[in-house]
Amino acid sequence: MSTFITLSTGQKMPTVGLGTWKSAPGQVKQAVLAALDCGYTHLDCAAAYGNEQEVGEALALRLGAGKTLRREEVFVTSKLWNTKHEPQDVEEACRSSLTHLGLAYLDLYLMHWPMAFQRGKELMPRREDGSIRYSDTHYRDTWVAMESLVDKGLVRAIGLSNFNARQTGDIVGMAKHRPVVNQVECHPYLSQTHLLSYCQSTAVCVTAYSPLGSGDRPWASARDPSVLQDPRLGAVAQRYQKTPAQILLRWQVQRGVACIPKSVTPSRIQQNLQVFDFCLSNDDMKLISSFNRNERFIIPTVERDGKKVWRDAE
Ligand code: A2P
Repeated sequence: MSTFITLSTGQKMPTVGLGTWKSAPGQVKQAVLAALDCGYTHLDCAAAYGNEQEVGEALALRLGAGKTLRREEVFVTSKLWNTKHEPQDVEEACRSSLTHLGLAYLDLYLMHWPMAFQRGKELMPRREDGSIRYSDTHYRDTWVAMESLVDKGLVRAIGLSNFNARQTGDIVGMAKHRPVVNQVECHPYLSQTHLLSYCQSTAVCVTAYSPLGSGDRPWASARDPSVLQDPRLGAVAQRYQKTPAQILLRWQVQRGVACIPKSVTPSRIQQNLQVFDFCLSNDDMKLISSFNRNERFIIPTVERDGKKVWRDAE
C-alpha cells in the first residue's frame, strides 16, 4: 500500500498528514516539529485555525538550505475562510496564509466551506440575535478567483472542503483547474460512501478530517458516541495488535482516502503514521464500514431563517 496518493495534477500527496485544527497556539509548533521529525511530510492547515503563524515557526526550523527537509519534500495545505469568498479578497487571503506559514507557495489551497459569510475581519460575523451574516457570493465565483492563484504560481493545486456531491459536480463541470481534493468529515460513523464513490469516479481525492471522531471538538458532550472507544473497533485492534486509532486510519488508507489525524502528543503523532505495515482483511474492512450511522460531529451551527443552510454531504 503506497504512502501517497497521486492527485489529478500528478502531485503526490502523502496519505497521512498532521491535522492542526484545535491545536492550540503554544502546542502546535511542538506538534509540527514532532511530526516532521518522525517522517510526516503532509501538514493540513487553515487560516481559520488561528495558528498558521506558529506552524510557520516550526516549518522555518526544518525547511530550507542546511536543514532537514527541502520545501518540495513537504506537502502543505491551507484553506480560504468563508469571509474571504468575494473574488477580490481571495488572493490577499492566500498571501496572508503564505506569509504566516513562511512559504512561497502552497501545495494545495481549499475552499473551506461552500457558503460565504459577510466579508471582513471577523471570523464569524453575526447579527445582534447571534445568527450568521451570510453573503450571496456563489462558490463558483470564488472558484474562478482561486484558479488565478494557480496561474500566478501561489498554489500548486486547488480543491474543496465540506462540499457535497452535487456541489463538487458543479465545480468539476465548470473548472479550468479541476478540484484535486474534497476534504470532508469522515470516520466509520460517517463513512461518506456515496460522496466517496462520486469523488473517486471524477478523480477528486477525498481527505478525511476528524478521522478519529474529533473527540476534542469544543462542543463534544460525554453522551456523544465515541468511535475511538467503540468496543467493536477495540476487538479489531486487539486482533491486529494495533491501537484503535491505527485501525481507523488504516481503514481510510485502504479505501483510498487520505487522512489528517490531529494530535499534539508526540507518541500519538508517531503512532498515527505507523499504518503502512499491516493490512485489514476484506471482512474487517466491511465490518468497520458497517458501523456507519450517518453521525456528523462537525455540523455547521449556522442557520438562516431558522433552517440549516447547508445540507448533509451524503
Ligand atoms: P491529542 O491531540 O491530545 O493527542 P481528530 O483527528 O479526529 O480530530 O481527533 C483528534 C483527537 O484525537 C484529539 O483529542 C487527539 O488528542 C486524539 N488523538 C490523536 N491521536 C490519537 C491516538 N493515536 N490515540 C488516541 N487519541 C488520539
